[in-house]
Amino acid sequence: MQPGKPSRTAWAAATHRAAHQILEQGRIFHDSLALRILGEDAETVAREAAEHPSRRVMRMFVAVRSRYAEDALAAAVERGVRQVVVLGAGLDTLAYRTAFSDMLRLFEVDHPSTQAWKRQRLEDAAIPIPKSLTFAPIDFEHQTLAEGLVAAGFDPSQPAFFTWLGVVPYLTEESVWSTLGFIASLPKGAHVVFDYSDPPASLPVELRIRHERRAQHVAELGEAWLHYFESGDLHAKLRALGFSAIEDLGPPQISARYFPNRVGAPPDKGGHILHATTI
Ligand SMILES: C[S@@+](CC[C@H](N)C(=O)[O-])C[C@H]1O[C@@H](n2cnc3c(N)ncnc32)[C@H](O)[C@@H]1O
Repeated sequence: MQPGKPSRTAWAAATHRAAHQILEQGRIFHDSLALRILGEDAETVAREAAEHPSRRVMRMFVAVRSRYAEDALAAAVERGVRQVVVLGAGLDTLAYRTAFSDMLRLFEVDHPSTQAWKRQRLEDAAIPIPKSLTFAPIDFEHQTLAEGLVAAGFDPSQPAFFTWLGVVPYLTEESVWSTLGFIASLPKGAHVVFDYSDPPASLPVELRIRHERRAQHVAELGEAWLHYFESGDLHAKLRALGFSAIEDLGPPQISARYFPNRVGAPPDKGGHILHATTI
């Protein structure tokens, strides 16, 4: 991230969610606040998305990861989880529209510059901040999640659900494993949902070219992708930390679950969304 500035990729992800509401009518992921928090009018968002048809793949992935995370959260709430942490929240709107608000303690963790910008966006859009929500400004590279969350009132003795969407690739491997280690260490158990990508060298050539273009773009924004995971390695390390159940959807599984009418086979490799739990 650029020093003192909010995340530009957080803006891009929010734009994809808003465009999905208009262009696909929120078919994969319905977000009633996606457009409002962005502060753009529907016509501009729709026109810009339509002018860049290559953005559709990323837009649908962003929609899928939010849908997957919120479905997993709903199931965890049914089983009694009452603490939710949105890590690297960006302009995510879960906390402001969840039907479970009265039952939950929610925490939004983000880089201080992005979080300050989001709070301004919420104010400008007149989106009320629910009593159940606490903001925790944390730079993952310079502060541990444990310190920052406990200071914000998180109760480590209670089960918790963490979403961590669109963040892991931007962090150093050390800070990713430090965060996952903290989540795995919670004594009453925890869930985490995050996305990651297969190493570029394993992608089919057409996807690799698209990936390289996008990697160059985010690097120019000051938010370079720092690493990727090979699924087998990642699962082994998660199990070693104590995550006993792992569900990992790669492109074929995402296609089967969310795009059953897709024409043509999906690629084997690409973006993944993963749910790991110690409960
Ligand atoms: C691509 S955005 C994703 C935002 C949001 N989760 C979403 O899906 O819309 C990346 C997020 O990671 C956060 N981030 C990047 N580096 C960070 C760091 N070192 N500490 C805390 N947050 C960080 C940014 O502030 C931004 O909100």
